[in-house]
Amino acid sequence: MAKKIPQTTNPPRERAFLVGAEVRSKKDFLPLEDSLTELALLAKTAGLEVVGELTQKLDHPHVVTYIGPGKVNELKALAEETLTQVVIFDDELSPRHQRELSKALGENIRVLDRTALILDIFAQHAHSSEGMLQVELAQYEYYLPRLTRAWTHLERQAGGGGGRAGTTGGVGLRGPGETQLEVDKRGIRHRIEHIKKELEKVTAHRERYRAQRKRMRIPTVAFVGYTNAGKSTLLNKLTKADVYVADQLFATLDPTTRRVELPGSYQALFTDTVGFIQKLPTGLIEAFHATLEEIAQADLLLHVVDISHPNALNQFEAVQETLRNIGAEHIPVVTALNKMDLLRDPEAALTTLKNYPSAIPVSGLKGNGLSDLLRKITEQLYEAFTPIHVKLPYQQGALISLFHEMGQVDVIEHERGGVTMQGRIPGRLIAQFKAWQIKSKSVQQLQEEQI
Ligand code: GTP
Repeated sequence: MAKKIPQTTNPPRERAFLVGAEVRSKKDFLPLEDSLTELALLAKTAGLEVVGELTQKLDHPHVVTYIGPGKVNELKALAEETLTQVVIFDDELSPRHQRELSKALGENIRVLDRTALILDIFAQHAHSSEGMLQVELAQYEYYLPRLTRAWTHLERQAGGGGGRAGTTGGVGLRGPGETQLEVDKRGIRHRIEHIKKELEKVTAHRERYRAQRKRMRIPTVAFVGYTNAGKSTLLNKLTKADVYVADQLFATLDPTTRRVELPGSYQALFTDTVGFIQKLPTGLIEAFHATLEEIAQADLLLHVVDISHPNALNQFEAVQETLRNIGAEHIPVVTALNKMDLLRDPEAALTTLKNYPSAIPVSGLKGNGLSDLLRKITEQLYEAFTPIHVKLPYQQGALISLFHEMGQVDVIEHERGGVTMQGRIPGRLIAQFKAWQIKSKSVQQLQEEQI
């Protein structure tokens, strides 16, 4: 199915044509049409103008060209007719797909995929040196197998260079700087090794900082959520911080941490993190390991959901999937059902509450529901007991006593090599037990069962 989209903008922006395939052998979180809408938003955020889209249903991606040869011809004709400069596929293309499609569409049309687009947006939005290193690493990992003449000469708009991820605004794909792409692959591999070492140093620094926070015993609440759900807005309202807010995808890339007073003279550190999205490139997850680890080490997750979005539940599930991938499924969750002010019938929306664990309706923008939210967070951190099942080695005597002192032990079995304990502990202590958790059921599943 093909669709041409009327143009709206004045300043010349690169003209992008979107291609999506519904592949029956793959499980996607969003229906194809919604996934393409999201891709169009990503393209817009990257500064492109979407001029049309083409879709196909497939059992499997075509080995050579991802979509079938007939569709490639149709795409070429449509792209020429609409003066397309960039064709963007809604899935990650293999280097071979990319090469063959570039050949078939001709050298005036660049072939990109969702991953390249997300990397491009990340390159624009990374500001801290850590964020820039992480994006640069992901970009090199992505480009390395795709490094051909076709790619290098098409990167003429790329900025940066000198080892820094390019961030030239406005036009198309900003890969790592052109000079970098033209050096041989060995040079890039060296650079990758160097970045990894730099990132290791950052991780070590983070570990020290985290250990210090643990000693101070201030629990950490990590904000997670689909991109554009309103995490930064909510953090701003709750902390009066000045975190960058924008109606675009991935406006926040670098984590921001603020101390917040909770009811009952308690305190917590709130950390805003990178927005999630379905089909988040694996390379990016690896590159952002240190940042994402911040989430996996949190005492509580505040999952911000844009409840006014028609795909709110799918987005929620896509985030859950990423949380599982980074080993954060054991952490208790409070859900902030955000943007309630946009709902025509908030009463009806409240009936959807049961779909989400420990959900509180809020509006980060208007500031509604915030005291209920803080109360719920305090309750989860300090009062509520979370189910847990661990096998603790005998050397972990301090944790065994902590469980006895602070928690409720339902079952305890002494075995060779350790003690298996099942019961409940305050949510803020969960992270300390993570390494020894028996993953029969996640906290999330247990919480959901209780709803
Ligand atoms: P990423 O940086 O992509 O992860 O986004 P984010 O989740 O931090 O979202 P952000 O706070 O930047 O908000 C995205 C958009 O939603 C902005 O235009 C906000 O003004 C808007 N927004 C956030 N919360 C609300 C809300 O409660 N109601 C309404 N109407 N708009 C909101």
